[in-house]
Formats: sequence, structure tokens, C-alpha cells
Amino acid sequence: MNNFTFYSPTLFSFGRGEADNVGALVRRFGGSRVLLVCGGGSVRKNGAYDGVTASLAKAGLPFTELSGIQPNPRSGKVYEGIDLVRRDKLDFILAVGGGSVIDTAKAVGMGAPYQGDFWDFFTGKAPIERTLPVGTVLTISAAGSEGSDSCVITQEKGSLKWGCPKTDVIRPKFSVLDPSFTCSLPPYQTASGAVDMIAHICERYFTNTPDVALTDRLAEALIRTILDAAPKALQNPGDYAARADLMWAGMLAHNDSCGVGREQDWASHQIEHELSALYDCAHGAGLAVVMPAWMRYVSGHDPMRFAQFAARVFGLETDYAHPEITAARGIACLRDTFRAWGMPVTLEELGAKPEDIPALIAHRREKPGAFPFGKFVSIGPEEMEAILRLACEQ
Ligand code: NZQ
Ligand code: ZN
Repeated sequence: MNNFTFYSPTLFSFGRGEADNVGALVRRFGGSRVLLVCGGGSVRKNGAYDGVTASLAKAGLPFTELSGIQPNPRSGKVYEGIDLVRRDKLDFILAVGGGSVIDTAKAVGMGAPYQGDFWDFFTGKAPIERTLPVGTVLTISAAGSEGSDSCVITQEKGSLKWGCPKTDVIRPKFSVLDPSFTCSLPPYQTASGAVDMIAHICERYFTNTPDVALTDRLAEALIRTILDAAPKALQNPGDYAARADLMWAGMLAHNDSCGVGREQDWASHQIEHELSALYDCAHGAGLAVVMPAWMRYVSGHDPMRFAQFAARVFGLETDYAHPEITAARGIACLRDTFRAWGMPVTLEELGAKPEDIPALIAHRREKPGAFPFGKFVSIGPEEMEAILRLACEQ
């Protein structure tokens, strides 16, 4: 296990009805005037908006609203939010929604106190040193932004979907996790969220770092829990117990509890961000296409690690003489699981075209330090192309 520091200071308030405490939580973390950030309307239908605004009113907290955040959130709404914060002298950002809403809130939080363009933080021109406090009320179990040190925004100039450098500075001050808010999720979003969580765990699980037994076991338990809960939530959207497992698993999958002390990969996410930048697909759906293809491409690098994954996650018997056979079976199980959940697993099923592959690679080149990426196996343009070609025919 490698040396590490782990600082995850977010307060989590978990369970039915916990949004009633939002006003008190904002006060506790120093807020007196709130920017309320939300998406395209789901929060008004599932009760989250009414619960949160009633709690703010009870705590005597005025708020200004920034709504209409789209999935794969764009820079335009970040600039708008920064202007609102400055105009109304707001001192707290409250996100009510999913990863897109939360990431917009985080970007506004870092951009408002900064004199330059918030995008400087994404290009590396400026370090992220401070932010306005951000709180979240989560409505979809997926991205893990409610506890993460990351923020992903699409810069509209050039359609560049990038994550800012990871930093504890942007972890939310608090996150309210009420699983009942997620019962209104359509099946496609429920499944996309579950895939994203599994991907967050796999990006950490497939590592070259030796002696990581504890975090391996944590990762496997999380994936098994998601594999158990996701079909229940798909079959019965109101299954509170399944929704609760998914919600806490989504947070644990990405707050780095199971990633500490090991080198992490992140190649599948880098490739997926190009897909969602070009096709505006759901992030989890893009990962359902990319991750099994990436696994097939890199499994020969460490077949025993993939065989361990197959045995411990899917209960397959290990062929010790030919671990690559067990490895391939485990990858097929994962792909078939995604397919059974209604996810696309080929580029075509996602609505992407094989003839766009060169454009996806060219677009990636526009990012500073575009290639190589991925720590488990280093990925250059040729490898990225090979993975996307595999994703045409799974
Ligand atoms: O806009 P509304 O109407 O709210 O609808 C949303 C949206 O259409 C809907 N939704 C959310 N909660 C709902 C609901 N519909 C019904 N009932 C509910 N309770 O779901 C749709 C997707 O929302 P979005 O916020 O985009 O989903 P998600 O949480 O998957 O976030 C995806 C974004 O997060 C980024 C992704 O790249 C993508 O941009 N990520 C952020 C990360 C981070 N900051 O740590 C890590 C991830 O790897 C990921 O890259
Ligand atoms: Zn993700």
C-alpha cells in the first residue's frame, strides 16, 4: 500500500425527511444568503424543491435561484451563477439535484471569489485555493460529486468536457442524502447511475500497486451491493431499501475510501468524457460502452487481477492455469449486466458512429497533457482508437 492523506470533511445527513434540516445546515456552515442551484425540473416534481425552500424559509435564509442546469453541465450557467452571487452578495451555494447541478455549484463556488475566468482552474492556469461553501441535496445516485474532490464542466467554447484538478478544497461542506428523492428516477437514469458507480470503483480497483487487500475487499463489497440493489430499484422504483444502498454506495464509490494507498487508472473516464462531449449522452451510459472495451484491451496486462475480480464479484471459478479465461468471463458478465439493465454496450447502441473515432481522438488532443493517460496501462492515441474499435463490437 502506498502512503496517502485522506481528508474528507463533508457532513452527511442520510435518510427520509433529512432535507428538513437544510436551512440549519446552511447556517451551521456560515451561510446567510444562498444561491439555490437546480436542474431542469425533476426537483419540483419529487418534493425536493418544496422541502428545501421551506427549510430555508424556516431558517430565515433568503435565496436567489439558478435553475435549468443541463446534464453534462455547460460553462454558460457557471458564468451566470457567478454573476448572481456577486450581484446579490450571496455567501453559500446550495445544489439540489445530481452531479451536473452539484458540479455547477462547485464551479460557481470556486469562480465567484476569483478575479479571472473560472476556466483558469480547469486549464491549470490558476490553482484552486478557496471557494465559497457548497452544500448539496442529492436526487440521483451516480456521480458521487456529493462527497468528491472533483468537478466536471463542459466549456462551451470548443465543447471541452474537462474535470478540474482534484482538490479537497471543493468537497461539499454537507450533503443531504434522502433516498426517497431518487424513487422518481426513470430506469435509464437509475441504470446509468449504477454503471457510473461501478466505474468509479473499477478505476481504482485495476491498479499496479501491490498489497491493497483491504481496499480490494471494500471495492468488491461495494460492487456486489450495487449489483444486488440496482435490479431491485429498476424493477420497483419505490424500493426504499435498494435506493438507500445505491445512494450510500454511490458516495463511497467516489469519495476515495476505496482508492486510498493505490495508483488509480481513470482511462475509461477520460475516453467517456469525449463521448459525452460529442454526443451529449448520459455519462454512465457512455461508461457502459467504454469500460468493458477498456477491460478487454488491458486485461492481458494483469490477468490475475481480472480473474480475482471475476471470482470475487461474480462468483466465477478461477482457472489458475489460464487466468485469462476467467478474466474474459468476468468482463463478459459485467457487459451482460449492463445490457440487462437496459444500457448500451456498443458505440452504435449509444448513438455514436465508428467513423467519428478519429474526431474523438482529435478532440482529446485539445486538452493540455492529452496523451498519454491511464495508470494501469498507459493509453496513447493508438490505444484509445483500439479501445473504441473494440467498443463497436461487444
Ligand atoms: O435536470 P433534471 O430535471 O433534474 O433531471 C435530471 C437529469 O435529466 C435527472 N434527475 C436527477 N434526479 C432526478 C432526476 N429525474 C427524476 N427524478 C430524480 N430524482 O437525471 C438527469 C441526469 O442528471 P445529472 O445530474 O446529469 O446526473 P449525474 O448525477 O449522473 O451527473 C452526471 C455529471 O456528473 C459528472 C459527469 O461527467 C456528468 O457531467 N461527473 C462528476 C463527477 C464528480 N464531480 O465527482 C464524477 C463523475 O465521474 C462524473 O464525471
Ligand atoms: Zn463517473
